[in-house]
Amino acid sequence: MKLNPIRSELAPDVRAELVTLLNLLLADASDLRSHAKHAHWNVKGLTFLQLHELFDRAAGEADTWIDDLAERAVQLGGVALGTVRLAALVTRLPEFPGGSIEGPAAVAALTESLAAFARAMRAAVEQATRLGDANTADLCTEVSRAADKLIWLLGSHLPETVR
Ligand SMILES: [Fe+2]
Repeated sequence: MKLNPIRSELAPDVRAELVTLLNLLLADASDLRSHAKHAHWNVKGLTFLQLHELFDRAAGEADTWIDDLAERAVQLGGVALGTVRLAALVTRLPEFPGGSIEGPAAVAALTESLAAFARAMRAAVEQATRLGDANTADLCTEVSRAADKLIWLLGSHLPETVR
């Protein structure tokens, strides 16, 4: 990968690995945002309004993560692979159900997406730490903590047996 010249303490091969990592996470986050918006628009049922708003909050948080991950990739001298088409090629999230979706099914599906996202983010913390980039590790830790919180908020809408 060809990097842009930047002033950095990190070696170019290290930065190249970090940019690859950040672009994978960017794709996951873009996919996650689309899942949350799909749920926001298409959820049905008695808890519609609560879930409609909670799913939009998740999409809003994903938007913030997308921006932070993309800009970190560029700060390291890389290019942010930011289009939906590029994200679709490499996302590691499960497919989100299409069409209208009942509240509990929507919560369960978005929880699966968030869990996959949080897992990837935790692995990224380890990888960035191993590469000696505390700032990327810190960003990924922050995102991972926020994803865990959303999983908790969503889980609170489900019966205990299916959380
Ligand atoms: Fe909306």
